[in-house]
Amino acid sequence: MGKKFKLINLKLADLIYPYFVVAGSHKKEEIKSFSGIYRFSIDRLLADVGKIRSLGLNKILLFGVGEKKDQAATNAYKENNLVALAVKTLKEKFPNLTVITDVCLCAYTTHGHCGIITSRASIDNKETLKALSRMALSHAQAGADWVAPSAMAKRQVLTIRKILDENGYEQRKILGYSAKFASNFYSPFRNAANSAPRFGDRTGYQLDYANPQVALSEIAQDINEGADMVMVKPALSYLDVILRASLKFKKPLAAYNVSGEYSFVKNGARQNFWDERQMVTEIITSIKRAGADLIITYHAKDIAKWLKEK
Ligand code: PBG
Repeated sequence: MGKKFKLINLKLADLIYPYFVVAGSHKKEEIKSFSGIYRFSIDRLLADVGKIRSLGLNKILLFGVGEKKDQAATNAYKENNLVALAVKTLKEKFPNLTVITDVCLCAYTTHGHCGIITSRASIDNKETLKALSRMALSHAQAGADWVAPSAMAKRQVLTIRKILDENGYEQRKILGYSAKFASNFYSPFRNAANSAPRFGDRTGYQLDYANPQVALSEIAQDINEGADMVMVKPALSYLDVILRASLKFKKPLAAYNVSGEYSFVKNGARQNFWDERQMVTEIITSIKRAGADLIITYHAKDIAKWLKEK
């Protein structure tokens, strides 16, 4: 018997699907502990985006996987960098696709931290802001609709807003990864982006999950700095934070249903521990119920397929 529950209040326009792009051509690489998600070269990315659009999805979040890494994260922002090329190619083919780019250095630095380290002790915020703003500008010049700074550098939203405005990109928007917790749920992502820290961890710049109050003040600060949308990340262990943020702030709120949360569901479904569709329905409903406007989720493609099937 069993009643089948339906996704409440969800439109496909609320979903953002993440992609990982690599250099080269004809590449669709599998990723360890991240089933169903691939690293695509630009040509294969175009083909896949064509598929999700025919399923009714139209928003993507793009991550570059740095091929060559160095201390200065040069490949994140150099002319014709990988993400800029990908954005340009995507926008030529799909002008009304909403393209959001992740702006962070961890996939491009030799040490895998999100900022520039000049002495081994800590991140140099000033140098990091320089690199992040060049990176964001290169994405905007390529046609990105939104840039999403995720390095947790101080004043990153303000600095990026300024450089975009100075260069005539006042209309481009900023999605702040405002409340980004130092979480265990990011591991599959770090395999995908090849961005795990080579020493230490990210607790110096990501938030302490025992302290939700700090998350709310980080969100307030990003809004003050000019963020057009704010984010809570991860989603499931942080539904309380999503709820509080949605009650407290008027800006649109995104929740990032991250790689580890996705992999739990996928791996359990593969072993027949549960029904994947029912599990995803419950999860996405809970994130919406907590108050997220947009949900970044690796399940987006499956959800779009299921909605088509029904
Ligand atoms: C950091 C970044 C991370 C994710 C996206 N951008 C986390 C991290 O490595 O600290 C994780 C997203 C996911 O797990 O799906 N640049």
